Formats: sequence, C-alpha cells, structure tokens
Amino acid sequence: MKIIVTGGAGFIGGNFVLYAVDKYPQDQIINLDALTYAGNLETLKPVEDKPNYKFVKGDIADREFIFNLFEEEKPDVVINFAAESHVDRSITDPGIFVRTNVVGTTTLLDACRTFGIGRYHQVSTDEVYGDLPLDRPDLLFTETTPLHTSSPYSSAKASADLFVQAYHRTYGLPVSISRCSNNYGPYHFPEKLIPLVISRALNDEEIPVYGKGENVRDWLYVTDHCKAIDLIVRKGREGEVYNIGGHNEKTNLEVVQTILRILGKPESLIKYVTDRPGHDLRYAMDPTKITTELGWQPEHTFETGIKDTIDWYLNNKEWWQNIISGEYQNYFTKQYKM
Ligand code: NAD
Ligand code: TYD
Repeated sequence: MKIIVTGGAGFIGGNFVLYAVDKYPQDQIINLDALTYAGNLETLKPVEDKPNYKFVKGDIADREFIFNLFEEEKPDVVINFAAESHVDRSITDPGIFVRTNVVGTTTLLDACRTFGIGRYHQVSTDEVYGDLPLDRPDLLFTETTPLHTSSPYSSAKASADLFVQAYHRTYGLPVSISRCSNNYGPYHFPEKLIPLVISRALNDEEIPVYGKGENVRDWLYVTDHCKAIDLIVRKGREGEVYNIGGHNEKTNLEVVQTILRILGKPESLIKYVTDRPGHDLRYAMDPTKITTELGWQPEHTFETGIKDTIDWYLNNKEWWQNIISGEYQNYFTKQYKM
C-alpha cells in the first residue's frame, strides 16, 4: 500500500510516520510537508534511510504541485495531518489557517477525486465541538454533538471536516474523520502548554498560565492517537467520524503543578497572564464508538504518559533547544510580552 502522510514533519504526523514506517515495512510511506516553523526533519532521523520511507517538500494548498504528485505517485491512502495548529497564532493571523486547513484540505480532496483513492483520512480535533461548562462533568462530546467553534483555528478545522463529509456524500469519496483530544508526548513543539512548561521549568523561567488556570483539557499520549488513526484507516467504516480520547481531564493548573513537582521546581515559577480571547473552558471526549466498534484502548494514563514525556525532554534536549534558540524566541516575546 502507498500512503501519503501530510504534515509528517510535525508533532503528531512525525510520531505517526515513525510508528507506521516501522510497523508496516511492506507499505510505502510518503511524508509530504511544507516545513513551516512547526515542521522539523530532525524528528524523522530514525527512519530517513528506510527503504519504505520518502520525504517530499510541498504545500497541500498548491494545486498544481499536489496534482502532479498524485499523478506520479497514485497513492492508495492519504492521511491529512498538515495544518496550522496553534490557537494563539490563529488569533493573530487567521488567514493562513483558512489557506492551509481549508483550501489545503479541499485541494487534497480534489486530487483524490481526480486520481482515485482507497481512503482519505482527515485528522481533526475535539475543538470543532466548541467547549463544555466547567460545572457539568457529566457532559462529554460525542460524534453527534453539533459543531460550534470558538477560535479561527477550530473554525478552519470544522470547515475542513464539513468539506470532507460533503465529498463523501456528493462524490462518494471513501473518507473517514477522527477527532482527538489534546495530545502530548515526544517531539511536541514548545509553543504548546506541556512542552512549554517542561522547557521553561528546566531553564528556571516563568511559566505563563492564562486566566486562573482553571480551563480543562482532556490529555492523550500521542502514540495512543497514532494507533487509533491507524485502526480507523484500516478497519473503520467509510464516511464515519470517530472521537478519540482517554478520559484524562485536568485543569491547566493541575498539569503545570504536576510537571513542576516531577521536575522538583517551585510553584513560584507560575505567572498568571491575561487570558486567551474566547478561551474554551473545557474539552472532554466520549470515545465509546471507537472502543466498542474497533476495540481501541489507550495504553497510557496521564500519570504514566507525563513521566515518559518529561524523560523524553530530559534525554533529547538538543531537539527542543535548537527550536527555542531561533525564530521561536521572537514569537515568544511578542506573544507574552515577557
Ligand atoms: P504541528 O503544528 O506540530 O504540525 C503541522 C505540520 O504540518 C508541520 O510539520 C508543518 O510543517 C506542516 N504544514 C503546515 N502547513 C502545511 C502546508 N500548507 N502544506 C504541507 N504541510 C504543512 O501540528 P500537530 O500538533 O502535529 O497536529 C497535527 C494534526 O492533528 C492537525 O491537523 C491538528 O489540527 C490535529 N490535532 C492536533 C491535536 C494536538 O493536541 N496537537 C489534537 C487533535 C488534533
Ligand atoms: P494549547 O497547548 O495551546 O492547546 P489548545 O488551546 O489547543 O487546547 O493550550 C492548552 C491549554 O493551556 C489551553 O487551555 C491554554 C492554556 N495555555 C496556558 O495557560 N498558557 C500557555 O502559555 C499556553 C500555550 C496555553
């Protein structure tokens, strides 16, 4: 089988490529990535010489490039991870989110329609459902929860999902969609909460917590997400949406305190900063469908996964120190005025 994985130089796509190249030596994995600020080929070092792996640099919204690539490669499967993925960046610059997340997705769908495809899989997010109240722990997102987005990021992801479903209904394209909760683990870019806290705490730097730190996220270890996507692509039903999550709800403050405790750093590093505009209160996934239909179960709890993640950041300082020494520093100063 020939699989085009888009966004394979990013956090989740990178973890997926490492997993799939190793697990399926008989499959050809083509990693298509534009190498934006979030793409890093260092992540792919362990597989770069494998015969079933190939990297192609390109933009999913570049129609001519994508059509030429599909004509040449004739992929059996496309798994679309490529996206602009950071909510804070979407608040300062929504346009690039529309281009990559919406136009990029429809360009891939058009190429699939033109050249034929066995399965197009869209990697989506729980953020398309909006947020849940803090005082109703009984409420969870299911696949039938209406889309109700808050940020330019989640709006662009929801638009992409609607196009994927429209191409199934209108053109019969064999698609699937997964919507996952917040991921964490190795190769996570240090602008996101967990790697930001680990990297700054290790440098004894202040840790910016939005508002009162009471917002809740449902955390899933990245390889559990990768295995769920693999199952959906190979065994999931066409035209279906699958929610992915492991019932690991934590407030942001709990996450920060846990990391500081494990690293032996003081809570005085925490700095409460102005809240994110439109900040979603709580995300929480109901994964009953993927569990009962496909037998998926996460292998990590937050408690085991966060220890493994911290160990990885301690053992791979070069990977993240290279990132935070460059352009990222300008972003950080502008975003937090710190
Ligand atoms: P990321 O920002 O770490 O990686 C995105 C990758 O896409 C980068 O390698 C980047 O270079 C590439 N890319 C960006 N624009 C491109 C373009 N126009 N053409 C080709 N490549 C392009 O993101 P991530 O956290 O790994 O997220 C991957 C996917 O998973 C996204 O679609 C995101 O919406 C979804 N998702 C993320 C989370 C999470 O917690 N991070 C949770 C659920 C779903
Ligand atoms: P983030 O990692 O950006 O993921 P998302 O917004 O997509 O869920 O943020 C996770 C939570 O952490 C979110 O509620 C915002 C909060 N947060 C902070 O409190 N401080 C920060 O510096 C960042 C980046 C996030």
